[in-house]
Amino acid sequence: MAIEKTYTMIKPDGVRNGHIGEIVNRFERAGLKIEEMRLEMVTPEQAKANYAEHEGKPFYDGLITYVTSGPVVKMVVSGEGAVAKVRTLMGATNPADAAPGTIRGDFGLTMDENVIHGSDSTESAAREIGVFFG
Ligand code: RTP
Ligand code: MG
Repeated sequence: MAIEKTYTMIKPDGVRNGHIGEIVNRFERAGLKIEEMRLEMVTPEQAKANYAEHEGKPFYDGLITYVTSGPVVKMVVSGEGAVAKVRTLMGATNPADAAPGTIRGDFGLTMDENVIHGSDSTESAAREIGVFFG
């Protein structure tokens, strides 16, 4: 396994419900390093670029509206196998299926309000870091 960088973002519900510190703490406890971090809005252009793979799906419009609805925490984190490590810490997409001890299992509310985003591959990570920090 190599040192990787990944893009991860605490979504509007995670910020609104006060989970920033806990999530950053979990990343650091897992040996990940915070390389970049910003609390700000997602622009519509960033949202569309980040979720381009889902364009045309029934949940797409709601997803774009949701992720641009309030401030988020945009982060680049690095470490051994960082892409998969962040996905493991996040848990399953639907909080109802996410294991206890994962971020979504512990703090997720609904399929939309599922607390956190993380890149799903090193290719997505490079693209998403460009979208949000390029
Ligand atoms: P994310 O991209 O946000 O990290 O989540 P993910 O990889 O676990 O899931 P993905 O398939 O990429 O879906 C992106 C976001 O769209 C919403 N979604 N809703 N109603 C549905 O069937 C559905 N499927 C996906 C979720 O909010 C998911 O995080
Ligand atoms: Mg995804």
